[in-house]
Amino acid sequence: MKFYIGSDHAGFRTKVALKKLLLGINAETVDLGTFGEDNVDYPDFAMKVAKKVAAEKGSFGLLVCGTGIGMSITANKVKGIRAANPFDTYTARVAREHNDANILCLGGRTYPTPQAKKILKAFLKAKPMSGERHKRRVRKIIEIEGMEC
Ligand code: RB5
Repeated sequence: MKFYIGSDHAGFRTKVALKKLLLGINAETVDLGTFGEDNVDYPDFAMKVAKKVAAEKGSFGLLVCGTGIGMSITANKVKGIRAANPFDTYTARVAREHNDANILCLGGRTYPTPQAKKILKAFLKAKPMSGERHKRRVRKIIEIEGMEC
């Protein structure tokens, strides 16, 4: 499993903790910044990660800002990206199973790091459901983007 990861200043500490988790399970992890707690703009890091994930089939992204909201709004502007901003293990699981999400966006200010770790673990464990209805719906998202399926 390969993860491109990024954060802004508000998500930096959480990103560091989640990076350890990913490295602990031997996931290939490429950190695209930010690398400290100085003020930065989340769209810059969302775009870095989203472009990499869109260009590399089968790769995933992890983005952390204060809430995960700005990161998901930005990442979803990139064709081929399905960025989800789940808030618990259930929404993390169905983001993979139903929506085939390829970027996980989390909040550094909206829940404690142990909760962020649980959400990441649920995302990692889940696989897209084989049911035709879920595939059909994801195909429709891809068609809306004007991409080839
Ligand atoms: C930064 O203060 C904050 O606005 C940002 O991290 C994020 O929460 C935006 O969605």
